[in-house]
This record gives sequence, structure tokens and C-alpha cells, in this order.
Amino acid sequence: MASRPCLYAFLLLLAFQSTMIKVNTVSLPPPECRPEVASTKDKFEFLLNFLILKIELFLRPSIDRGINDISPGLVQGPVPIGAEVANLDNATRKMIEEFGLAGIGHLRAIINTTLLNAPIPMPQLDISRQAYNIFLTLILNDTKKSNPSYNPYANTNSFLFAAVFASSFLNQYYAGIMPSIVGNDERRLLSGIALYEAGVFGALRAELNARVNLTVPPFNFTVGILTNLTAQLANQLARCGVKDEGLIVPLQLGAENRTRSNVVPGDVNSLAYARSEREIMRIAYTTGNATRPGGLFPRGLKGAIPRRIRTLKLS
Ligand SMILES: *[C@@H]1O[C@H](CO)[C@@H](O)[C@H](O)[C@H]1NC(C)=O
Ligand SMILES: *[C@@H]1O[C@H](CO)[C@@H](O)[C@H](O)[C@H]1NC(C)=O
Ligand SMILES: *[C@@H]1O[C@H](CO)[C@@H](O)[C@H](O)[C@H]1NC(C)=O
Ligand SMILES: *[C@@H]1O[C@H](CO)[C@@H](O)[C@H](O)[C@H]1NC(C)=O
Ligand SMILES: *[C@@H]1O[C@H](CO)[C@@H](O)[C@H](O)[C@H]1NC(C)=O
Ligand SMILES: *[C@@H]1O[C@H](CO)[C@@H](O)[C@H](O)[C@H]1NC(C)=O
Ligand SMILES: *[C@@H]1O[C@H](CO)[C@@H](O)[C@H](O)[C@H]1NC(C)=O
Ligand SMILES: *[C@@H]1O[C@H](CO)[C@@H](O)[C@H](O)[C@H]1NC(C)=O
Repeated sequence: MASRPCLYAFLLLLAFQSTMIKVNTVSLPPPECRPEVASTKDKFEFLLNFLILKIELFLRPSIDRGINDISPGLVQGPVPIGAEVANLDNATRKMIEEFGLAGIGHLRAIINTTLLNAPIPMPQLDISRQAYNIFLTLILNDTKKSNPSYNPYANTNSFLFAAVFASSFLNQYYAGIMPSIVGNDERRLLSGIALYEAGVFGALRAELNARVNLTVPPFNFTVGILTNLTAQLANQLARCGVKDEGLIVPLQLGAENRTRSNVVPGDVNSLAYARSEREIMRIAYTTGNATRPGGLFPRGLKGAIPRRIRTLKLS
């Protein structure tokens, strides 16, 4: 009879050892790549910046309306700089409109479930041609100012890049915070939003993939090459390894190392890539520095996490 407590003790020891072994084999990312330690509310507040970016970038170019035109009182703040109605084909316009409108529902659900009150303060967005050109200038390593410039609103191929970029930030952040969200309502909310956004990202990547061999006017290279260069730039700015990938990749980045087709990017086991707050800020600011605003957020992001990053001067 004494054997039973003994067995329990043995099992407990085993369980303890296996957690020890797990802890030992999971390598922590370097400090500049780790997620910020923050509350669930702060994480939702952080993601609102990118949700608002996505909605404004999808609705203004597709139907010439902003968040407050569709659902007054949800947000308050400056109108985005440089939005234009985009020259999209009808099918793409419908799709972009739908995804933009869906974002408004997500915004409302976040306000309803978490402790964030409407109106949500909007960050100053810059979605002008000039802001997007900063990325292109960096991609092409181009210091001359006089080259043909990238205009995301000029045609469907060009717009899809800007749209995929905005959706990608959201997906990578959802993947990053999902494991640490506290509260059943909050977890259900986040998985509902994240699964929807993964669908959006996949649909947009599939649209880009259908155009992989077409050129992106006024440039001379194809959608495939530009996706690859854009991914390289994002990885370079974020400084935490390869987490953005092109549509056509070397075999070692393809699923099971067996294909060069890469409509949906993923890690060695095709799991979604996660990015931390600072990684995303380094890319969206275009400066590679989370305390140096620029690019799509010329005055920086709103919320407690970006404020702390600024105060601590974390790059
Ligand atoms: C696109 O939609 C507009 C307005 O709804 C319509 O006038 C036009 O004929 C459509 N174009 C095509 C190619 O279907
Ligand atoms: C807000 O949340 C409550 C319960 O958490 C729910 O019953 C209600 O339908 C939600 N409202 C909206 C507009 O989502
Ligand atoms: C720009 O430079 C980076 C590294 O400095 C390189 O990986 C990339 O291929 C270059 N882009 C072009 C278009 O030459
Ligand atoms: C793009 O070009 C490659 C190589 O020429 C070809 O294998 C592929 O099927 C093309 N893709 C599309 C979507 O046209
Ligand atoms: C565009 O690319 C083609 C093929 O690579 C090349 O022959 C042509 O000179 C390029 N045109 C410009 C304007 O760079
Ligand atoms: C871009 O393409 C080059 C050449 O095929 C490849 O070495 C690189 O890994 C690709 N980068 C990404 C981020 O897809
Ligand atoms: C694919 O290649 C990487 C190295 O590039 C390796 O770590 C991984 O185990 C390979 N995956 C498979 C399924 O062979
Ligand atoms: C990041 O930007 C801040 C503010 O401009 C600056 O103080 C800091 O030195 C920069 N860090 C790096 C690594 O460039």
C-alpha cells in the first residue's frame, strides 16, 4: 500500500523533470525581439493602432469613407494624411471594402469586451504616396530622389502590396500575443478576430499570387520580385530573423523544404510567424528603431506600451 504515494511522488518528479527539460530546451529570443511585458488591455490597445491603420487604408481607397463616416463615435483624432481613392478593379474594390468594414466590427467588439472606452484616440496616420515611397526607396537602396515613385493607389497590383502589409502586421501581432491573453472573453474575442484576419491575409496573398508574373507599374519588376524585396526589407528593419517571406522562395523557406510556392508564409513547421511590439514598430516607422517614429505613423503609436518604449528609449 505504501507503493501508491511513492508512485505519485515518482510521477510528480517525472512531470517536474519534463517541465524542467522543456524550459531548458526552449531558447528565449534575444531581448530586442521579446514581446513587452504588458497587460491584456495594453495589448489590445496596442493592436488598435494597426487595426485603425487597416480600416482607414481599406475604406478610404475603396469607398472614400473613414471609420467615423461609417460608425460615428468609435474613434477620435486626426484624419489620415494622404489617403486617396485607388484605381482598383471592381472585384478587388468589393473585397477591400468588405475587409475594411469587417474591421469596424472588430473595433466595436474590442471596445465592448475590454476596458477601452470609445472614442478610441486615433494615431496620426500617414498613408500618402510619399510615406509608402520611403519603403520603396529603402527596398531599392535608392538615394536618388528623382526615380519613378511608387503610388499604392495607381492600380490594383500596387494597392495589394499596401493592403497585404497592413494585414500582415495584425496577423503577426495576434500570433505574438495570443498565448498570453488573460480572460475567457478576451481570448474568445482575440481568436475570433485573429482567425478572420488570417482569412483576409490569405485572400490578399492569393490575389497577389495570381499576379505573381505581372509587373508593378511604373516599375520594371514583377509582383513576385517586389513581394520578395518587401519581405527582405521588413526582416531587415525588424532585426529578428526571417518572418516575412516572398511568394516564390528558395526551397528551404517552402513548406517541408519541398516547394518554392509560398502563398502563405510560415516557419519550419509552417506555423504562423509572431512579431513583438518593437519589431512591428521598427517596420511601420521605417526607421528600424521603435523610439523613432516615421513612415506610416509620423507621430508614433498610441497607448501604454509605445509610451513605455519611448520612455525607456528601447530601440
Ligand atoms: C465596375 O463598376 C462600375 C460601377 O459600379 C461599373 O460602371 C463598371 O461597368 C464596372 N466595370 C466592370 C468591368 O465590370
Ligand atoms: C457587448 O457585450 C455583451 C456581453 O459581453 C453582449 O451581450 C453584447 O451583444 C455586445 N454588444 C455588441 C454590440 O457587440
Ligand atoms: C538592397 O540592399 C540589401 C542589403 O543591403 C539587399 O539585400 C537587397 O537585395 C538590395 N536591393 C536591391 C533591389 O538591390
Ligand atoms: C509565373 O511564371 C512561372 C515561370 O515562368 C510559371 O511557372 C508560373 O506558373 C507563373 N505563375 C502564374 C500565376 O502565372
Ligand atoms: C526592364 O526589364 C527588361 C528585362 O529584364 C529589360 O530588358 C529592360 O531594359 C528593363 N527596362 C527598364 C526601363 O529598366
Ligand atoms: C528572396 O529571394 C531570394 C532569391 O531567391 C532568396 O534568397 C531570399 O531568401 C528570398 N527572401 C524572402 C524573404 O523571401
Ligand atoms: C528544412 O530545412 C531546414 C534547414 O534549412 C531544417 O532545419 C528542417 O529540418 C528541414 N525540414 C524538413 C521537413 O526537412
Ligand atoms: C533610436 O532612436 C532614439 C530617438 O531618436 C535614439 O535616442 C536612439 O539612439 C536610437 N537607437 C538606435 C539604436 O539607433
